[in-house]
Amino acid sequence: ANKSILFLPGDGIGPEAMTQVRRVIEWMGRERSVSFDLDEDLVGGAAIDAHGVPLADATMEKALNVDAVLLGAVGGPKWDDLPFEKKPERGLLRLRKEMELYANLRPALCFEALVSASSLKPEIVSGLDIMIVRELTGGVYFGEPRGIEELPDGQRRGINTQVYTTNEIRRVGDVAFDLARKRSGHVTSSEKANVMESGVLWRQEITKLHQEKHSDIKLDHMYADNAGMQLVRNPKQFDVIVTDNLFGDMLSDVAAMLTGSLGMLPSASLGDVDANGRRKALYEPVHGSAPDIAGQDKANPLATLLSYAMALRYTFDLAEEADLVEQAVQNVLDSGIRTPDIMAEGTKAVSTSAMGDAVLAE
Ligand code: NAI
Ligand code: MG
Repeated sequence: ANKSILFLPGDGIGPEAMTQVRRVIEWMGRERSVSFDLDEDLVGGAAIDAHGVPLADATMEKALNVDAVLLGAVGGPKWDDLPFEKKPERGLLRLRKEMELYANLRPALCFEALVSASSLKPEIVSGLDIMIVRELTGGVYFGEPRGIEELPDGQRRGINTQVYTTNEIRRVGDVAFDLARKRSGHVTSSEKANVMESGVLWRQEITKLHQEKHSDIKLDHMYADNAGMQLVRNPKQFDVIVTDNLFGDMLSDVAAMLTGSLGMLPSASLGDVDANGRRKALYEPVHGSAPDIAGQDKANPLATLLSYAMALRYTFDLAEEADLVEQAVQNVLDSGIRTPDIMAEGTKAVSTSAMGDAVLAE
């Protein structure tokens, strides 16, 4: 079967960035004979306006039957007053839930030309290339019991429960070890086994999985608080970090700031391999719909383009094509071309479409 991608541009700057990806895909079809069956549909506010729901059933069905979904961003002030159940963000949550995307991949890669944009010293981030794998569908954000209850003495008590099963730990562990095999062969597993039962189980299961299936990979364990510290102190000691939902939420945001702008950060969310050998996958930039700059041809399309590069690498096994896209981005940055969000003082910024032109030229 042909390789298939579902485009869900969404709202705000989502469609603007996705237009630049489409140009690169068209170029690849012409120049590299890499072609995809491309379908496009609505998500978020755009879907609410057309169908009254943030993700139509027919769109969900399509998402479940393609090799990869590429999403722009959802949300915006127009839909802010809707009840939570009807908000644009629910479209994305439905995709994640029904595709069962349990592994969230957040690379922190520092482009040399942007070293000075990092919040850290150049020697700490120069050459940085790490990947955080966050468990996305379990843990304390979903565990039961949860709620706020009244106590007899008039106080109230807020409750969340951290729960992990062996299967939940092992499947995200597999993703992390497999990724490390395509990278530098090193996984750091992070939890708080010193104070949490779920952390004890996490460490035991990752250790077992390593012995059973992945002993070619180097494995370390690190308490999550220390991992936060080490990410800022010496991030280059890491290759792949695998961790739970809560710690992954925080550690991936810390890692994001090592590299500079939101407009540069791609992500992938992966699920199980189905009967056809296809791993459910959704690729999207980390940023949102940026209503403050939407419609002005100002958005940085690189996070979305780099998300497409991740799709090439991880879903389609087209490492050469992924390298081409990433190298083009690097060359463009090296040549000093910048959208406003990554612009150094005193330089002139280019538009979204001009950034797309520059990447295509490279
Ligand atoms: P945001 O990521 O959309 O924007 C935060 C700031 O970063 C803004 O000043 C924006 O202009 C800037 N920015 C973000 N991406 C950029 C890019 N590619 N190029 C240049 N500048 C960029 O987050 P915010 O403002 O909190 O949320 C705006 C809307 O997006 C909300 O409706 C929110 O719910 C939604 N959202 C959607 C996400 C998604 O679709 N995955 C993720 C985060 C927020
Ligand atoms: Mg977060």
